[in-house]
Amino acid sequence: MKYGFFDDASCEYVITTPETPLPWINYLGCKDFFTLVSNTCGGYSFYKDAKLLRLTRYRYNNVPYDNNGQYFYIKDGADVWNPGWQPVKRTLDSYECRHGLGYSRFTGSLNQVSAQVLSFVPLNDSCEVSRLVLTNNGSAAKELSLFSYVEWCLWNADDDMKNFQRNLSIGEMEIEGSTIYHKTEYRERRNHYALYSVNCPVDGFDTSRDAFLGAYRSPSDPAVVMNGKASNSVAHGWSPIASHQINVTLAPGESRSFIFVLAYVENKEEEKWEAPGIINKTKAHELLSRYQSDDDVEKAYAQLKEYWQELLSGYQIQSGCEEVNRMVNIWNQYQCMVTFNMSRSASYYESGIGRGMGFRDSCQDLLGFVHLIPERARERILDIASAQFGDGSTYHQYQPLTKKGNADIGGGFNDDPLWLIAGTSAYIKETGDFSILDEVVTFDDGGEGTLFEHLTRSFRFTVTHKGPHGLPLIGRADWNDCLNLNCFSAQPGESFQTFGPSEGPVAESVFIGGMFVKYGEEYAAIAESLGKKEIAEDARREVAAMYDTLLQAGWDGDWFLRAYDAYGQKVGSSECEEGQIFIEPQGFCVLAGVGVKEGKAQQALDSVKERLDSKYGIMLLQPAYTRYHLELGEITSYPPGYKENAGIFCHNNPWVSIAETVIGRGGRAFEIYKKTCPAYLEGISEIHRTEPYCYSQMIAGRDAATFGEAKNSWLTGTAAWTFVNISQYILGIQPSLDGLCINPCVPADFGDFTITRRFRGAVYHIEVKNPGHLEKGVSSLIVDGETIEGNVVPFVEGKKEYHVTAVMG
Ligand code: BGC
Repeated sequence: MKYGFFDDASCEYVITTPETPLPWINYLGCKDFFTLVSNTCGGYSFYKDAKLLRLTRYRYNNVPYDNNGQYFYIKDGADVWNPGWQPVKRTLDSYECRHGLGYSRFTGSLNQVSAQVLSFVPLNDSCEVSRLVLTNNGSAAKELSLFSYVEWCLWNADDDMKNFQRNLSIGEMEIEGSTIYHKTEYRERRNHYALYSVNCPVDGFDTSRDAFLGAYRSPSDPAVVMNGKASNSVAHGWSPIASHQINVTLAPGESRSFIFVLAYVENKEEEKWEAPGIINKTKAHELLSRYQSDDDVEKAYAQLKEYWQELLSGYQIQSGCEEVNRMVNIWNQYQCMVTFNMSRSASYYESGIGRGMGFRDSCQDLLGFVHLIPERARERILDIASAQFGDGSTYHQYQPLTKKGNADIGGGFNDDPLWLIAGTSAYIKETGDFSILDEVVTFDDGGEGTLFEHLTRSFRFTVTHKGPHGLPLIGRADWNDCLNLNCFSAQPGESFQTFGPSEGPVAESVFIGGMFVKYGEEYAAIAESLGKKEIAEDARREVAAMYDTLLQAGWDGDWFLRAYDAYGQKVGSSECEEGQIFIEPQGFCVLAGVGVKEGKAQQALDSVKERLDSKYGIMLLQPAYTRYHLELGEITSYPPGYKENAGIFCHNNPWVSIAETVIGRGGRAFEIYKKTCPAYLEGISEIHRTEPYCYSQMIAGRDAATFGEAKNSWLTGTAAWTFVNISQYILGIQPSLDGLCINPCVPADFGDFTITRRFRGAVYHIEVKNPGHLEKGVSSLIVDGETIEGNVVPFVEGKKEYHVTAVMG
């Protein structure tokens, strides 16, 4: 069942009923100011950091599920309604929500009145602009009252939810005409404030939630709106809000627009006050002056649209597959931007207060983002590198505002260091910019080194942390955060995530071994390009040794083992009672090329198909763990079929798909791609439940009661990895150190396709022809009329356009 449709020409998803199975959200903002907005106008805003600089309050774990947002109420006689349906939930005559690239547009109508809200974050200001247009479609005049509503968060969203004895007394407001200022804590530890303004005179306002809602009421029936009369309340403590009342008379056919601005303003210490106790509003006035008229809004909105069009033009495909075109050209790239900005911090499933930027997460997010804005990827790599310790290990997370490692979580995840090589290598392949390697970056525990030195320490960390079989020690966990093989020392009740850096001398990870082969080789290639021959040779020796170890100690007979636990017992083996085969080592070892020439790669992938595949995607492991295993940790704490315990973890499905392209099976690679691809799941939204335009972290596996139900949409490494999979491995346009490589691996019936790809300042127009209906192989490559040997388009400095024809054969 569908709840809307794709409007590809406008790059929008159009939701046609507010009652979607779960809130279907969008992200407004590209850089500093962000708003999460649901299809019923729920959500919240923050500046840079969802934990520390939260502007508006979201009420988690509430009923209805999606609670609090920037709401507009329209009072039309006795009727009160919202253009986005919530919170009043009055049945509307019509409803539509269009989620677009960096904006959302809501249109509701009732009794001949329509209200359209367009919300977006302009490119160059720290604010969200919402233009509401009210239209009288009837034949009689309409007397209406419009009320706006946001609830302020007292900045630190974590403290906001806990420290009531203090927080209920600290709220402070200022009102100036139609602008409501939220200045809690401004007198002492803050130099910023928030504001909510409208571009016309108001007939009243409220800033006290209690006054606005009335006792024992809620945003679904606020007393002020129901009575049609603002109370001009000024909050002192308790829960400050901002609400405007505007009375409007509309003649038949008449429309009026209102421009609301929700903004964040920062003052320098010396310019904090205008008069004792009165905040300096100069910057606020300047900002507001830029959003006063419809023209102003149109201009800023047009700039945003142009920005996105330009960004996405860096990779555009035309193929016979509508779903592929729309995911590649629009939604997958869009989600890559969102995951780059948010890492795993703020979504409807990530509270914005717990997890900041993940080390491994952000490195992987780069893989799908780097082609969009390489300069920002560069900056990010250097930030991430500074969360590394001198011995090559790393903090697992850092806070975006402070860029400091998160000491509560600490480090000890032994895959983390290698992801830094992955991200950096992707950046260099994309840009050819080796100068990043000379940047000097500090180590978190003192000292500094060039980025190349950081990569070297990442590489050496694995080399110097091996276990009894010569495989990498797993530490607290590897990619699979929940495979805690050293956690048997945890005390009852202790969290899996918080106890010490229990590396343990025995537990080993086959997965990290696969990573080491892949990224160790990329490290060697970088060293070679820098003319560091000895380092490259040494690295390749280490990689070769790991390759052999994986095929010996890491091989179970029909597939790759997952690990050895702290007692030296096999994990992910046919000898195990449960959890006999895991997805991660099959995907990663094969995509790294391990076992390809020995025939083991194909055997491993055949085992995946036989044992892990399902109609909704490849499950993480089988058979699911039915009881808790202390020696395996959190993974066995999940009910069978959910999350890492045999759920369909979307993140590593593309690894298997990529692995299939490595052995040339384009049909199977694409079959795997389609199974978790949201655009292909639109028609079963009542089962899948999350947004059909973005990937979710997880789909419940076959063992679950809710097989096929997705969860944790938006913030997942799936976005980057599926984009890498489809754009580089299936469609086959691969940035490499030497230039753009054309290496498609598609189903035999995929047909010809064309791609426009921006690469190192030039535009490549690529045509892939497949007259023989093959799955892999390029027999001829013609670049600007000339036939080229091999399948890499030679890069010519200064050349701005390339016309490339690749014929499969
Ligand atoms: C985390 C990833 C991790 C994955 C598997 C996600 O929630 O963000 O870092 O690799 O779970 O455990």
